[in-house]
Amino acid sequence: MTTPEVKTTILIDEELLKPLSCHEEKWLSSLSVIVIPYTPGAAPEVRSEGGSFIISDRPDVIERLTTNGFVGLFVLTQRGFAHLDKVPGSWFVFHHVEDAINWIMDHPRGVEDFMQTLRVGAEFIKKGGLVAFPTETVYGLGACAFNAEAVTRIFEAKGRPLDDPLIVHVANKEQVERLSTNVSPLTRMLMDRFWPGPLTLVVPKSPSVPDIVTAGLPTVAIRLPANPWTRKFISLARTPIAAPSANAFGRTSPTSARHVIEQLTGRYDFLIDGGACRVGVESTVLSLVHPKPTILRPGGVTKEEIEALIGPVEATPWQVESKGAKPSPGLLTTHYAPRTPMIVSSDLRAYTKRRDVGLITLRKPHESVSGPVISLSPRGDLREAAINLYRAMRELDQMNLALIVAEEMPQEGLGMAINDRLKRASRKI
Ligand code: TXA
Ligand code: MG
Repeated sequence: MTTPEVKTTILIDEELLKPLSCHEEKWLSSLSVIVIPYTPGAAPEVRSEGGSFIISDRPDVIERLTTNGFVGLFVLTQRGFAHLDKVPGSWFVFHHVEDAINWIMDHPRGVEDFMQTLRVGAEFIKKGGLVAFPTETVYGLGACAFNAEAVTRIFEAKGRPLDDPLIVHVANKEQVERLSTNVSPLTRMLMDRFWPGPLTLVVPKSPSVPDIVTAGLPTVAIRLPANPWTRKFISLARTPIAAPSANAFGRTSPTSARHVIEQLTGRYDFLIDGGACRVGVESTVLSLVHPKPTILRPGGVTKEEIEALIGPVEATPWQVESKGAKPSPGLLTTHYAPRTPMIVSSDLRAYTKRRDVGLITLRKPHESVSGPVISLSPRGDLREAAINLYRAMRELDQMNLALIVAEEMPQEGLGMAINDRLKRASRKI
């Protein structure tokens, strides 16, 4: 037997290999992959010319090997999710082992190559290009916020109507001064508590922000993302970046690079693959220009968290909106939709015997189900459910089903954002 010349070494936690399909195994065996069985305490002495990688869903396994010079890639399995709080923001996380391996193929020398990816992306932004990039919520499709022509191309690429304003992403709080003339003490308090993080603040806009960004409104929506690589990318571009989610208009949002490729290939200049999004639903949009602070869109920061800091806030209930009163341009009643018809129901019993119906549930269903079912969080954790939401919608959408039925989540914490997306993704059938 001849040993192939190993340039890049990939160690994969043995338990992650077990559930792989035979197609994926074949693909893996064509690469130079070394599989380690999990034996706590034993750190393999593997070195290579290129990078050395460890793919695992256990932070302790990754940590031990990263101190040995390995690049750790974290997989969001059920067990992985349970440890997510221990995973530093700079680690790359993935929904699937396959996504992690694709990342390695694009970045064979690890972080060094990823930094180069960020630099190339930043150059495209400087030249007026469109770059799809990761954030902790969903992937964005960005352009320089002060370049009206470049921003116009975002609307064209997505097929998005011009009356739907964009969020401007900043690398630090100082950049806010270039976007807003009037940052109130209340705004500062919210920034100090929730930034970096999934909270977008709607504030009075400065004249230098082009009208195309704000759909002609006198206000601008701003957020400072939690993902440290996103902030690095924006810093390298040396400008705030205007970006909506990187999906075709009205369709399901992307939470991995693969999702962006599936929907928007050919419509952007460059894609930064930063792995899976750790929050999984969009940021909360909070207006500070209404008489009372008002949540225009529930999202990654919960109403409860905001109210604990600033007291009661208004929130636009779904029922009011669906009767035609739009609180914010761009908040459509049909949005985030898969191609397969979808409905939300609090009682799934009528559908469990249908093989042509896919179910999205919070926990695993008690009874047997004939069709495909994806439970967003078997232990009932709404944060885990949010991370898995759009992936589940996309995976079921690819199965040629007659219908997707999603279970309504508890209307609390992140459940409010998830229910909002589920209802908007639904159609009358
Ligand atoms: O998490 C997120 O917010 C993601 C990532 C990429 O940052 N972005 C995102 O953008 O969800 P988009 O375009 O899909 O949704 C932005 C929403 C708009 O639909 C609109 O309702 C609201 O933010 N918005 C933006 N500017 C506004 C303004 N000046 N006044 C009121 N609402 C505004
Ligand atoms: Mg969107």
